[in-house]
Amino acid sequence: MAVRKLAPENMQPENFVLSAETEAFADKEIAKYPPGRQASAVIALLGKAQEQAGGWLPRKAIEAVATRLDMPVIRVMEVATFYTMFNLEPVGKYFIQFCGTTPCVLRGAGDIRQVLERRIGDQNHVTADGNFSWLEVECLGACSNAPMVQINDDYYEDLTTENFEKLLDDLAAGHPVKVGSQIGRSRSEPFEAVNTLQDPTLYDGSLVGAWRKRFEEQAKAAETAEPAAAMASIPQEVKAAKPTAGRPIESDAADTPAKRAKEGETPINPADQREAADPSKATKGQSHTEAEPRHAPQSGKSYVASPKKDGEAVPSSPTTPVAGTPPAQAETRRDGSESKPDVIVDKDNKSS
Ligand code: FES
Repeated sequence: MAVRKLAPENMQPENFVLSAETEAFADKEIAKYPPGRQASAVIALLGKAQEQAGGWLPRKAIEAVATRLDMPVIRVMEVATFYTMFNLEPVGKYFIQFCGTTPCVLRGAGDIRQVLERRIGDQNHVTADGNFSWLEVECLGACSNAPMVQINDDYYEDLTTENFEKLLDDLAAGHPVKVGSQIGRSRSEPFEAVNTLQDPTLYDGSLVGAWRKRFEEQAKAAETAEPAAAMASIPQEVKAAKPTAGRPIESDAADTPAKRAKEGETPINPADQREAADPSKATKGQSHTEAEPRHAPQSGKSYVASPKKDGEAVPSSPTTPVAGTPPAQAETRRDGSESKPDVIVDKDNKSS
């Protein structure tokens, strides 16, 4: 991207007046927008002014457009300097926009650039006869016909060194030139051999009929095949169902209430009844009164005495007893529990 700034003062014309044609064009463009919105026509009007000025926008042309649209000059200047389709310096009679983006480069745009540099010179340089200038631009959207250039409003595609040199010669000589592909292909049809989409039935309509006929045949075959397939899916050897399937299995060896009732015996085995009645075999919990006398549960807490009266000394910090040590043996204990008697519970549930 080149720095976009206005042409040096020595290139600027002293004045610029919109032509009658440009004025008529402006009227038509402004009428497309609601009253007071004439600024919306700024791009169209700048394009027409560029055309009138010979392919570029002098400062005076930008000012004339601003006046025509009742816009601040800086607003029109912003638009003119932003869009690369507006040339801010003089260009040749044939302004060549050379595509230097990847697809074109892969197809030989480097060779085209060498021709431009050799015959015209650097970018933005106008030849002495005023015929040519060129500028590298990004993809112009004709990649399938790469490499290509745009000269004024037309595309020239499928360029080679030879056909591009001839194109420039013809333009310089004023000879008619062919727009589009320079190798004779139509638009972006396949390059060289056509090797796809060659089936004639694609174009005579018969392919559609063939598909329909095939669908009908397949549908008919499916109709006749369905009953046969259903019959074929039925197993020929039918296996007998298992009589015990889904039922609880009873073994003769099992001594169940149902079996005992069926055999005319009491549902409950007398041996089981006797065993249930024997208290010596009953499962019992140990009552609290049968337990060995034990110490009352001791607290794991430490207590810190606080003074009850003014001036009373605060007891020294207690010592935490070793876990599991009976309070009576905890000589260093000073939390008050050392004075508590051990609680003994006898069998009559009396404490001592
Ligand atoms: S890359 Fe050149 S036209 Fe798209």
